[in-house]
Amino acid sequence: MRMRAFLTFVATGAFALAGCNGGKVTHPYIAVTGGDPNHGKVLIDQYGCGACHIVPGVRGARGLVGPPLIYFSERTMIAGELPNSPSNLIRWIEHPREVEPKTAMPDLGLTEDQATDIAAYLYTLRGPEGTRWIE
Ligand code: HEC
Repeated sequence: MRMRAFLTFVATGAFALAGCNGGKVTHPYIAVTGGDPNHGKVLIDQYGCGACHIVPGVRGARGLVGPPLIYFSERTMIAGELPNSPSNLIRWIEHPREVEPKTAMPDLGLTEDQATDIAAYLYTLRGPEGTRWIE
């Protein structure tokens, strides 16, 4: 699954580079995990990520314990530790404490498929052109 996510990322990135339309570059990160972003959004709500994070598009997700997840597809790093790639994001969401043992973010017991869907949703969060704000 991790390898599949990576390959999808590469393939989508290549497509995005080739697929500029009318000066607008297709965003390379969107839905590249192979997961289902709509299900990811539901999971973000169910697992209470919003108690600690502002998550644009998820009602009531206004927590300030962790960083706001706005513009997440534009981020360079994840938690200041890992380059922002689909496989690293899935790894972080599944097992944050394997990456950073003292982080306040708990391991929520998500499966890899669930983390993949959540990552797909976070990659829909874009910067100014596709701005989505807090709901
Ligand atoms: C108890 C609070 C808490 C909960 C619940 C929580 N997180 Fe976090 N999260 C944090 C903290 C604190 C950090 C910052 C980690 C660090 O930099 O060490 C973080 C970091 C992150 C990051 C990296 C952010 C960045 O700016 O690099 C992502 C992505 C993330 N969390 C996603 C989630 C998702 C998705 C969920 C729900 C499945 C979730 N978090 C649940 C506290 C939480």
